[in-house]
Amino acid sequence: MSEFDIYENLTRFREPLIRRIIESLVISPDSKGIDVGCGIGRITNLLYSEKNLNKDLIGLDLSYDKIQYAKKYSKYTNIKFVQGDVNKLNFKSNSFDWIWSMDTIWIGPKESGCPAEKPDKILNELNKILIPGGKLYLAFWSSQKLLPGYPLLEARLNSTISANTPYLNDMNPNNHILCVKKWLKDANFKDIKVKSFVGDIAGSLSENDKKAVSTFFEMLWNNSEREVSKKDWDKFNELCSSESDKFILNDPNYYGFYIYTLFNGTKI
Ligand SMILES: C[S@@+](CC[C@H](N)C(=O)[O-])C[C@H]1O[C@@H](n2cnc3c(N)ncnc32)[C@H](O)[C@@H]1O
Repeated sequence: MSEFDIYENLTRFREPLIRRIIESLVISPDSKGIDVGCGIGRITNLLYSEKNLNKDLIGLDLSYDKIQYAKKYSKYTNIKFVQGDVNKLNFKSNSFDWIWSMDTIWIGPKESGCPAEKPDKILNELNKILIPGGKLYLAFWSSQKLLPGYPLLEARLNSTISANTPYLNDMNPNNHILCVKKWLKDANFKDIKVKSFVGDIAGSLSENDKKAVSTFFEMLWNNSEREVSKKDWDKFNELCSSESDKFILNDPNYYGFYIYTLFNGTKI
């Protein structure tokens, strides 16, 4: 699978959950919004169609290739995809009624692909481009249970640095994504709210769903080898490798889940 096929498959897999999150957003059809860190633009398209938008919607991403891909496959001419950096937004103050950003404002080392090592400047940039009364929505993958029947192995895999990237041992606790309420308060937002949404993963899984969950296994645990025992590592490979005859996702009774957490605040 190419990199873009993987992104497509991950978006398709998460789509029912993403639709439920989008349904909860307070966004009117004639509002002007921006998707910060839009990636391949699929979720930008969903925002546009699900909210019946009729004004320009901006999709912004640092990656030139993703922006080109998003432009090529977008369904709506009102969506304008632009390359840009969330740290230096080239928009006038008070430009947008709302901002949506999913899995992008991860705080941590630049080498891990994070946009910043502290959230404050980015939150201030986002605040600046919103109109007073405008809404900031920040959504993050926040948790998961993917190894039914193996809670202790899963707990040990989850205790590794790889599974908690980009959070590091010596990091300021406030930089963790579950502390976004504090980021919003410090950036002077009001009416700060948070809600989590659960995505069920229930067998029998299609081949595409198995590929998506395998991508989650890889993203979380593929670099955990040095931090767990050989016995745990062998068991992980036995359960999570698609070539293994014990591949856990082949079980028709498989059940797991993942959680996205949505934070929002209103500009004063
Ligand atoms: C994990 S992807 C999420 C994509 C999409 N929002 C989604 O949920 O499928 C994170 C995205 O943030 C983008 N990104 C990383 N640093 C950025 C920055 N400084 N400014 C804008 N986008 C950035 C990456 O290129 C990537 O497309």
